[in-house]
Amino acid sequence: MDLASKMNKQLDLLKPSSILKFDADVSQIPDIIKLTLGEPDFNTPEHVKTAGEESIANNQSHYTASAGKIELRKAAANFLSSKYSANFDPETQIVTTVGATGAIYSSITAVINPGDEVLIPIPIFPLYIPIAILNGAKPVFIDTSKDGFQLTSEKLTKAFEEHPNAKALIMNYPTNPTGVTYTRSELEALVAIIKQHEIFVISDEIYSELTYGDKHVSLGELLPEQTLLITGVSKSHAMTGWRIGFVAGPAPVIQKIGMVNQFTVTSATTNAQDAAIEALKNGMDDGLEMKKEYQKRRDFLKAGLEKAGFPVISPDGAFYIFAKIPAQFDQDSFAFGMQLAKEAKVAVIPGAAFPAGEGYLRLSYAASMENLEEAVKRIQHFVDSHK
Ligand SMILES: Cc1ncc(COP(=O)(O)O)c(C=O)c1O
Repeated sequence: MDLASKMNKQLDLLKPSSILKFDADVSQIPDIIKLTLGEPDFNTPEHVKTAGEESIANNQSHYTASAGKIELRKAAANFLSSKYSANFDPETQIVTTVGATGAIYSSITAVINPGDEVLIPIPIFPLYIPIAILNGAKPVFIDTSKDGFQLTSEKLTKAFEEHPNAKALIMNYPTNPTGVTYTRSELEALVAIIKQHEIFVISDEIYSELTYGDKHVSLGELLPEQTLLITGVSKSHAMTGWRIGFVAGPAPVIQKIGMVNQFTVTSATTNAQDAAIEALKNGMDDGLEMKKEYQKRRDFLKAGLEKAGFPVISPDGAFYIFAKIPAQFDQDSFAFGMQLAKEAKVAVIPGAAFPAGEGYLRLSYAASMENLEEAVKRIQHFVDSHK
């Protein structure tokens, strides 16, 4: 019997995450400083933890409405509206999911039929790609690496000309892995083009609270009739492990996404929902405190990398720096990343873990200042010893 050969053929098109594999490999190296993590190093705020504890003590141990507690959806709607002028009806236009990941999974699954094309600007957080492929979609990559890692109007227009029937466009900004984000006018230029096409925009704005220049502008405000806005408390409130995310969008679309969520997970964990209510109601600005700290770290790491000879892409959001491998080194980012890990004992993510990211490295500054200082010293020493 060879049951493995009878499985969903789409799975043969997928590979395990190279980020996790690389991270696991370099984590074995003694005394390594890891700048690989894609999650806040802060603790969940105390008042949010207390709400979670009280939820358990009060026997909140039952299923909730599949779309999540209405109090949570109201708090999320209020958060999105007051922070980003993105207005959604909590009753019909928001579904609570298991992390932003759950929102991405349910949205793509609800939208895609086998054979559909999905436009994906790259480099980008890779998760959208395997989920699209599992649903039988054909990813169509738009390489932004020559355009400052931003989707331009020209590239988008060209993509629509070549793929007039594309079903969805994925947006993620501030972007993982580059830290690049978009201004209002840049988004408006894209929106003017998108509006001419009957296409869904799946806009992952999970890093919206972490922008270091202009305030984040949401496609939920600019293009509500086509946008499926993905967000959550993972990054804004240092709550990755609580697994609460949201998708917001037009009511008939959200109703169907809600069905996928229901048939996949029934509902998100009740106690985590209660903690998220507290986070979004009474901790609206918790993320801003963390942001101040990230900003200091970003400035420090950016300066250190530039001094060591790594050209850095303007890191305006999230907690990543995308740095070019200096020209004197071979540009194979996995080989360079491994050499840096072994010789300098600094772990970063090779750019090639992201499509169109070869020749770059992703460094996360969701790490303590002490570790960043030591990492910069080690990187400088590494570069000096290879002159
Ligand atoms: C762009 C992006 N979207 C979604 C996620 C996952 O978010 P969550 O932990 O809420 O599922 C991540 C995590 O790194 C991310 O970088």
